[in-house]
Amino acid sequence: MTALIPDLIPQHVAIIMDGNGRWASQRGLPRFEGHRRGVEALRKTIRAAEELGIRYLTVYSFSSENWKRPATEVSDLMGLLRRFIRNDLAELHSRNIRVRVIGVKEGLAPDIIALLDESEQLTKNNTGLTFVVAFNYGARREIANAARLIAQAVKAGEINTDAIDEKLVSNYLNTVGIPDPELVIRTSGEQRLSNFLLWQSSYSEFVFTSGHWPDFGRDALEEALLVYQSRDRRFGGLSSAMGGVR
Ligand code: IPE
Ligand code: IPE
Ligand code: MG
Repeated sequence: MTALIPDLIPQHVAIIMDGNGRWASQRGLPRFEGHRRGVEALRKTIRAAEELGIRYLTVYSFSSENWKRPATEVSDLMGLLRRFIRNDLAELHSRNIRVRVIGVKEGLAPDIIALLDESEQLTKNNTGLTFVVAFNYGARREIANAARLIAQAVKAGEINTDAIDEKLVSNYLNTVGIPDPELVIRTSGEQRLSNFLLWQSSYSEFVFTSGHWPDFGRDALEEALLVYQSRDRRFGGLSSAMGGVR
C-alpha cells in the first residue's frame, strides 16, 4: 500500500455514513443490526482519525429527511444515539475529544437534547479531535436559517447589508469556527450529498466508496485518504504541476 503523505492529511474529513440497511439485508439481518454495527464502525473511525492526525471529523448521523423512515426505525436510530452518548461520552472526553453538534435540536426528544447539550458542554474546552455530529441536520435548512438570522440582524440595525459576504454567511451557519472539509466521503456507492454540508463542501474533494458503513474503519479511511492525496486541487487556478499553488 502506498504510504500516506503526513503533510497532506486533511484537517477536516466529513463522512456520509451510508449503507447500514443494505449491509444488514445482505446478511438476512434486520436493519437495526446494520445501524448497531454502524456505531461500532464509527468508534473505529474516530480512533483512526485521531491516530492519523485529522483535526475535525464530521459524521452525518441523522438527516432532516430521515424522519420519513418508519417510526420504528426512527426510534431505533434515536435509541442508538442515546446509547452511544451514555456509553462513550466519558471515554471521548478522557481522550480530549471536543464534541460539536450541528442540526436542529427542536423536534428531538427532551432527553436527546439534554444528552447532546451535555456532550458539547462537557467537552467544550478539549483540544484534541473535534468530533462533529450532524444530527437532525439539513444543509438547506441551515442556509435558510442563516438567511433569516442575517435579515433579522439587518432589520435590528446590527449589520449593514454591505457587510454580507461569504465570511459573514459562514458565521451564521451551524459550523461556525469549523474549517470547511477538504474531503467528503460517502460509503455504499451512492453518489449524492443528500442535503449534507452544501455550503461548506463547495471545494471539497469527494470520495465515494463501495463498501457499506458497518465495514468502514481504519483501512477504508486510509484508502480514501490515499485517493484524496492523489487529487489535484486547483480551486479554479492552475494545477500544482503547472506552477499553481497547492
Ligand atoms: C445509513 O444507512 C444510516 C442512516 C441514514 C441513519 P441507511 O439506513 O441509509 O442504509 P441503506 O442506505 O438503507 O442501506
Ligand atoms: C444520508 O443517507 C443521511 C445519513 C447518512 C444520515 P440516506 O440514506 O438517508 O440518503 P438517501 O435517502 O439515500 O439520499
Ligand atoms: Mg441510505
